[in-house]
Amino acid sequence: MRIVLYVLAAFIIYQILIRLIRKVFHFPAPAFIGRFLDSNIRRAMQPPAALIRRSGIQPGMRVLEIGCGSGAYTLEIARAVGATGKVVALDIQPGMLEQLKNKLTRSENTDIRNVEPLLASAYQLPFQNGSFDAAFMITVLQEIPDKWRALAEVRRTLRPGGIVAVTEWLFDPDYPLKQTTLRLLKEAGFENIDSSGNLWTYTVRGYRQ
Ligand SMILES: C[S@@+](CC[C@H](N)C(=O)[O-])C[C@H]1O[C@@H](n2cnc3c(N)ncnc32)[C@H](O)[C@@H]1O
Repeated sequence: MRIVLYVLAAFIIYQILIRLIRKVFHFPAPAFIGRFLDSNIRRAMQPPAALIRRSGIQPGMRVLEIGCGSGAYTLEIARAVGATGKVVALDIQPGMLEQLKNKLTRSENTDIRNVEPLLASAYQLPFQNGSFDAAFMITVLQEIPDKWRALAEVRRTLRPGGIVAVTEWLFDPDYPLKQTTLRLLKEAGFENIDSSGNLWTYTVRGYRQ
């Protein structure tokens, strides 16, 4: 029992300290944490299958992953959309994209040919209006200082009826409460907004009309 309390106390102290630091120093998650983001422990906490189901990703979709990082979820999503679908995996850090590219060259992933890694910012998406069926952000939105600008770009690049899915994870130092994410999507003009998951990890989904 005592050990549980210690772990809980350590987690709370970690969360308070890291959040205070993040308030003063704003920077993207450094590329070296890419390997921690893509770990079995994380997959146990945020299972890819649940995340894909909650985001509404279906075979044949053309999807945009914003802030793909080291690609912790990119490969599963690429398999979920299948050969007739496509994943554009975008990040502002070359170091993160390198990790994704390395994963794509591994022998167990040679079946995946529908991922396009792309160095670009959510602020200026290099795509025409209505290019995607779905866009998703996993522990990314709160890392972007001008969230409304990024969401406006996402909305522009989605087709009418397209889905935006924002997933957050309590362990992330930028974790916001679900109400905050619901409000952000509403302010950005998305409709039929819903949410699923729990306090630990949730997904908020909205549609472009
Ligand atoms: C905490 S990591 C999450 C990575 C991945 N989505 C995951 O869940 O493992 C956040 C990622 O968002 C990227 N990022 C931050 N600001 C961005 C922006 N303006 N445009 C695109 N990516 C951005 C960072 O470089 C970083 O790789």
